[in-house]
Amino acid sequence: MRDSGARKWIPIRKSNLRYYEDVELFYESPTGKIMLYKPAGMPFADRALEAKPYLGALYIRPDDKIRALRSAQRGFSTDLTARVMKGGIEDLAEIKHDLTAIVDETLSEPRSGHLTVLPDYVSSVVDGYASHPDLIKYLARISHTDYTTAIHSLNVMALTIGYCYFTKRSLEETRTLGLTALLHDVGKTETNPEILTAARKLTDEEYTEVKKHPLLGADILAEYGGVLSAAIPGTLHHHLRLDGTGYPEHLRGRPISEAGRIIAVIDSYEVMTNNDRVYRSPMKPYDALVSLKEDADAGLYDKKVFANFAYSLVDTAQGGSHGARHAEQVHQSDVAEITGTIG
Ligand SMILES: [Fe+2]
Ligand SMILES: [Fe+2]
Repeated sequence: MRDSGARKWIPIRKSNLRYYEDVELFYESPTGKIMLYKPAGMPFADRALEAKPYLGALYIRPDDKIRALRSAQRGFSTDLTARVMKGGIEDLAEIKHDLTAIVDETLSEPRSGHLTVLPDYVSSVVDGYASHPDLIKYLARISHTDYTTAIHSLNVMALTIGYCYFTKRSLEETRTLGLTALLHDVGKTETNPEILTAARKLTDEEYTEVKKHPLLGADILAEYGGVLSAAIPGTLHHHLRLDGTGYPEHLRGRPISEAGRIIAVIDSYEVMTNNDRVYRSPMKPYDALVSLKEDADAGLYDKKVFANFAYSLVDTAQGGSHGARHAEQVHQSDVAEITGTIG
């Protein structure tokens, strides 16, 4: 059974069990047989489950994953609206936790059709924060001990949506750029995870592997077409620099899409301010902005995008007292000083 049938079953993460209440769950018996663990709709608290030999792994049918992710999306969207309507930022850590779990679950098999649920997630975040746009940037500041591609992607998404609100983009553009930000590193799901988490400098061969991720990402998105194809330009271009450096190398010196120029700045900022590699400590927002400004002046980044992004980070009074995020503040006067010579 394990060899013939089990491959068709999708293991689910214990931390995400609640998303799967509405679908049938299966377990593998000690003899390797896949058996029904719980019928669709039965709550996990049901006493009938006490007698089941739960052996630590539960499975769903492949088709049920999208259904489950969609029903989780509806639940998330309702929760988000309720939490954001309260106008506070105390619930941000929970909102982010829920979103991280979903994105992690979705990104785990990007070529299995699961990414189709993500545009609705991005829309619910964009719409959820439309009435309190200042809150979205705080979502990116919640610190994590386990920095993953999912968390990085979510942070870049939150910062990008904040940038879009600041630059008064339409909801449509904000959704598209937010989706691009969330998916810009989707190609990394096909990079050897040991390379991605290596706490040391990469070898040339390893770096060559990493540099494939924009192309792999664009390839994954092209397989989907439709709404997701709008995220291709930014995904493909986010490591290209305006001075003709960066990768993919065959695109050097060619025009870089606006999405690519925006994600380039925000992606770099996010990586600098977070603990992505154990050997390097995160930079303070001020220092990261100074460093980006130097690179913008050197012709790597779009200066206008950089200046707008820096201003989009400025703290509002409301966010100032929240304890569950980085204490580092971004002040209007600092940004004015840093961006000073940029017109
Ligand atoms: Fe990247
Ligand atoms: Fe990235």
